[in-house]
Order: sequence, then C-alpha cells, then structure tokens
Amino acid sequence: MNFGKLISYRVCGQRVVLRFAGGTGRIELISPEIVNVFCGCETEEHHSYSIEERRMWNAPIHIEEFPEGLKIITSRLEVRVFDGFRVDVYDREGRLLCGDYRGERSYEPSVNHADLILAAQEGHEVSLIDKNHKIEILKAMQGDECFYGLGDKTGPLNKRGYEYEMWNTNNPAPQMENVKSLYKSVPFFITLREDCVFGLFFDNHYKTYFDMGKENPAYYYVGADRGNLDYYMIFGENMARVVEGFCALTGTHELPPMWALGYHQSRWSYENEAELRKVASRLRMLGIPCDALYLDIDFMDHFKVYTWDNEKFPNPAGMIADLKKQGFRTVAILDPAVKKEEGYPVYEEGVKNDYFLKDANGEIYYNKVWAGVSAYPDFSEKRVRDWWGVHEKEMLDTGLAGLLMDMNEPSTFDGQMPPDVVFGNEGNAATHEEMHNLYGNLMAKAVREGWKKDGGKRPFIVTRACFAGVQKYCMSWTGDNHSIWVMLRESIAQVCGMGLSGMGFTGADVGGYGSDCNGELLARWTQVGALLPYFRNHSSRPTRHQEPWRFGDETMRICREYIRLRYRLIPYYYDLFWQMAQTGLPVVRPLVLEYEKDPRTRNLNDQFLVGPNLLAAPVLAQGMECRAVYLPEGRWLDYWKETWAEGGGYVLREAPLDCCPLYVRENAMIPMYPVQNYVGETQIRELTLLITGCEASYVHYQDNGEDMAYQKGAYNLYVFDYRDRIFQISFRHRGYERVYDSYRLLVNGQEYVISRKMAEAGFACVP
Ligand code: NOJ
Repeated sequence: MNFGKLISYRVCGQRVVLRFAGGTGRIELISPEIVNVFCGCETEEHHSYSIEERRMWNAPIHIEEFPEGLKIITSRLEVRVFDGFRVDVYDREGRLLCGDYRGERSYEPSVNHADLILAAQEGHEVSLIDKNHKIEILKAMQGDECFYGLGDKTGPLNKRGYEYEMWNTNNPAPQMENVKSLYKSVPFFITLREDCVFGLFFDNHYKTYFDMGKENPAYYYVGADRGNLDYYMIFGENMARVVEGFCALTGTHELPPMWALGYHQSRWSYENEAELRKVASRLRMLGIPCDALYLDIDFMDHFKVYTWDNEKFPNPAGMIADLKKQGFRTVAILDPAVKKEEGYPVYEEGVKNDYFLKDANGEIYYNKVWAGVSAYPDFSEKRVRDWWGVHEKEMLDTGLAGLLMDMNEPSTFDGQMPPDVVFGNEGNAATHEEMHNLYGNLMAKAVREGWKKDGGKRPFIVTRACFAGVQKYCMSWTGDNHSIWVMLRESIAQVCGMGLSGMGFTGADVGGYGSDCNGELLARWTQVGALLPYFRNHSSRPTRHQEPWRFGDETMRICREYIRLRYRLIPYYYDLFWQMAQTGLPVVRPLVLEYEKDPRTRNLNDQFLVGPNLLAAPVLAQGMECRAVYLPEGRWLDYWKETWAEGGGYVLREAPLDCCPLYVRENAMIPMYPVQNYVGETQIRELTLLITGCEASYVHYQDNGEDMAYQKGAYNLYVFDYRDRIFQISFRHRGYERVYDSYRLLVNGQEYVISRKMAEAGFACVP
C-alpha cells in the first residue's frame, strides 16, 4: 500500500484522521498507552470479532506539527506520523519504542521452483509461497528484541527468527517447531527489548503472516492479503501490563467452577457405560483424585451430534448422576458438523430453517467428518447460535458438567472447505476465506450463550480452534499432540505462549494423544500436567491406554503423588484463576513475565512459574535424573527438601523419576487444602498456609466454587499478612458465610495451628 505524502489531518476527540496523497488513515488513542493504527481497506470502520465491546479510556491528546510530519502526544506517548503513513512511537522522554522500517522488504527466495518440484517427487510437502502481501506492517528491529505470544504456536517461547501463519489447521501429525499454523489463530505478540516492551495486536481475522526477523534481521513484519490495516500497539511499564492491556481489549476468562481445576481423565473413547464406570471405580480404588471423566465421539449414535448411542449408554442421565455421587463430573465432546441423514432431527431442522453454510451456488455445503457427509452450522448467525443452544440445553439436562468443542477449525475429511463457501453473517454475507479463523470463536459464542439456558452453574467449555478473544467464552487445549518427549517439552512454551495471548486456561493432553506412551514418559508428563492450568490425561483410539495405572505400580504411585499435589495446591490455583479473571494475567507464566529485566529468563523454555510464587523445573528428557535449574535473583525454598537455594544463577538439582524440582519464592505464601478425592468432597474448614521468609502478604479468594453467586458478592477476599513474626488476617470483602475456622501455618520449618479468632487478632509465630 502506497500512502504517499501526508496532506492534511483532522482531530476528532482521541482520533486523528490523516489524509495522504494515496489514501486515508487514522491514529486513535484507545488509552494513553494503547495506539490504534487503521486504514479501512475493506470496511470504513473496524471490523473486529475479537474486540466485541469497544472500550475507550480517557486519553487527552495534543498535536504538534514538525517539519517531517505530526506528533500526537498523550500523557505517556508521542506518536509521530510521517509521509507514507509511517508511524514511530516514542515515550515522553524521547526514547524510540517502536519504529516503522524505512526500507523495502528484501528477501532472497532461498528455494527455486525447480527445487520444489524435485523435492515434491520424493513426497516432501512443498508450497510455493508468494511472499508479498497487500497489507504489510514492517517494524525496524533495534537488535535486542525477543518476541512472545502469538497464541498456540510450536517452537521456543521466544519466537525471534521464526515465521508463522494464522490459519486454523487440524494436522494430527506431530507438530514440530517448523509448523506454521495450528488449531488457533491469535495475531498478537509482545516485543521485549532491554529498555521497553509493547504488544502488537493485528486485528485482522483473514489469513495473516508473521515473520519475526527470519527473512531479514533488520525488521519483523506482519502481512495479510485481505481485510483492513488495523493494529493496536499496547505499551506498558512491563510485560504484565501489556498482557493486561491486550485482555482489556479482547476480554478475560471467566472464573471456572472449582472442580475444573482438578484432574481430568479422558480417552478416545471410553466405549460404553461399563467401561466408564470401571475407570471411575479404579480411580477411587487406587486413591487417585479425579474430578472429570470424558465421553469422546463414540457416545453418539453414529457420531451424530446431539444424540446418544442408546445401546452403549442406555441411561445417560442415570449414569451421569451415579458418577456425580462418586464425585465425577462428566464432560462430553461436541463437534459442529451435522450428519446428512433424513429423519435425523438436527439435520432436518437445519435444512428447513436454513441454518447451514452454503456453497457459491446457494446450496448447502457438505463435506465429510466422522459421521460421513455432513453440513456445517452457520454460527455467524444469531438465530443459528440460538438453535444450537436449544440442543445444548437438552444435552446439559442429562447432567453433563462440561462440553469440549472439537473439529471446529472447521475440520473436513474430504478436501479443504473452498474459500467461497458463504456465511450469512447477519445480513453481511461473508466467505469462508474471511470467516475460517473465526469459526471456533463463533461456535464458542453459541455454546456459551446456550449454556446460560442451563441456569446458574458456571460454564466449563473447552475449544480446540479459536481466534483472539475466545477467552471470554471458553478455555482451550492444545489439540492432538503425541506421546514423544519433544512434545512434552514443547507443551511448556505452548501453554506459556497462550497465557501471554489472553488464553491462560489451557493445557496439553497429558501423556500425549497420538503414538504410544510409556511409564517414564507418563510419570514425567503427569508432573508437568499437574502444574499446568488444564490437567487432562487423554489418548487416541489406536494407541496404548495411558491411565495412571497402565504402566505398573511405580508409575501409578508417581502419577498419584503429583495428582495429589495438584489437589493440595487447588486454593492457590483458584486464587490465580480469580486474578486472571480480573486482569488477564495467566495462571502459569514463563519466567520472563515476572523477571523480564533478567536476560537469562528470556529464552528459558523448560521452566515455568505457577503464579509469582512457585517455580517448576520439570525433567523433560528420557533417562535424565538431574537437571540445572535457573533461579532468578533472591532466595528460593526447595519445596521437597525444605532447604534454601540462592538465586541469580543455576543450581544443579537431583531429579529422580519421582521428583519434579519445585521452588517457592522467599517472602511468599501458598495456600493449600488437604488432599481430596475430588473438589468439594469435604467442606474445608482449615486453610494451610506455606509461608516463606520473614515478610509476606497475600490476597486469598474464596467462594462456593460452583455457581454465579460470587457475581452478587457471595465471596470472601482475605488479606494474609506476615511480618515481625506476626501472622494476621483481615477481610477486604466478606460475603461468603463459610469462613475458615482455623489456619495451619507452615512457617520456615515450624507448624502452628491457630483459630480464626487468633488469626484475626494477630498471632505471634514464636517457636
Ligand atoms: C480430535 C481431538 O483433538 C481428540 O482429542 C479427539 O479424541 C478426537 N478428535 C476424536 O474425537
């Protein structure tokens, strides 16, 4: 796009409309620290499916002209606009934060056409890529940039030197670091430099391209061939503020039901009622805590959505109720495609009421998925979402506690969905080319809206495919990984990257989904999974079963130990989920999020933090029984040995198969519950608090964990304070009647059990 010379400008509130010789652009200050750069290449106004309720914060601006252009000044930033719609952003001290690259893109096509044809003959996957895009945003590299985020992507945490595409893709092959697209598209990344940090959100839902300095280290770029030039630069004093800024625009996760934080056991598939009940009994018999069991596609009648196979599951409601009595919630898979079959009500309703996507000739578009030839609901239409929700309600009426949306890229078994398939889109018909990346979000919106019909229980909705902003509707998992060590290792950067992209409630299939697992891998994977937000063991039909007991007693004992650890930590996780619902800050964090000034955290792929207080350094390689652990500045308590380690460097930690090294920050608190077979098994009357160091304070959240009453104030917010050996509690909010009766304090090797009264009055922890 060639904008040419800047001719004139007009200020309307926080927006500056810029007239260039070759077109019009505009800069809008969404807040003093969030800048929107816009040119309506296809629509005059924003065309966002991520920022659904556009919010503005007060950001008075003033304008200064200077010989080369225009300065738009806020209390925090100075945005300089030049000919060609080049935009540079400075802070108020005159430091360049983000500058447009002034040259042309220069890349050497490193392969030629003949080479590609040759390679294709041997079966290599090749594609001729036209590397120039209609819309290109080129930012000059200053040299020290690290890049984080981009949603669910493979490769290391720091994406510098990699290229990616945003096009939701279902590819069940092992997803290595050269894979450009997975199931999700979140066109948002964070640039971290020595002296500044900002996020860039390209709000364009067509296929988009990201090159983080791979083709040329002089710049990084974002490209698209359709849609608008519409991006947000989100500044802030640190990475955490940038993540919060992105979530302020696109939304945060809701507070989940507390049981969702427990262990989930799944398999494609537990074939019938007897098998599911057997898994349930085995878990309880072995004392392995578990909160959720899954029904994969085989519970349906010939894979027809919203049906049950009455032979395999003759009495779904009875079975689900029985499992609930044992403390298990049942979650069912929910695919979007509807089998083409006369007499199948869901299909017939869809045809009759015009609920399905159409081909270019206006006929229903069909492709194949599990059930065979199927049609695809047009979730871009509210009336279709409402209809979907009615069936969802019938499903939930059986007692199901959650729904896992799968195949919503949308998947097609018989070739790709053509780009010209038509979506109704509320009267603004749109093509699949435009809507592809949004299908998961629109389905999630349908299911979240449908859930409201089910009354007051908190939603538990999972999605595989999505676009930026899906977190307001549901959570997600990383899709079909494999039981191979490299994917265990990769899952850490993946989950951390998603957390930095607004999607902090996520996890990878524990044990790996495809390929065969083994005891050592399952033990190590369970150690990691127990600490990631979504903790589900799941495996594929043609692979070995991988429930914790499948590989002998030692593996079972190790898995059980770490599942129990998760249950002890449930109140800590719940606090972090509550915080995430307020701010968007993820539950599980790469170390760089908390210690961005420490260069040694910037490329750390094999460690992570749970909240700010707990550091995990799992073993991620076969046969390894010892590992180097990087501890940032400060002292850290070895959780297992109860000894102190000095931070600011690496320590060597023995890590036999039953040990995942864990460290607690000095001057921190971690609340804990006793181990339960499932969340809510007992009413917790006593809260345990692990307190490290000599001065700590902590905010703890408590509610009934089940329904929406917290939104009307039925919750408690405690402030725990420990200094000069005095422990004291106070309330920031008191609206939930079941306050703790007592506290068990674990303070630097000593244990004290004190009553609520003593805690409120202030208790001296003197041995
Ligand atoms: C693909 C999903 O990713 C996987 O988890 C599921 O088991 C299969 N589809 C079968 O439904």
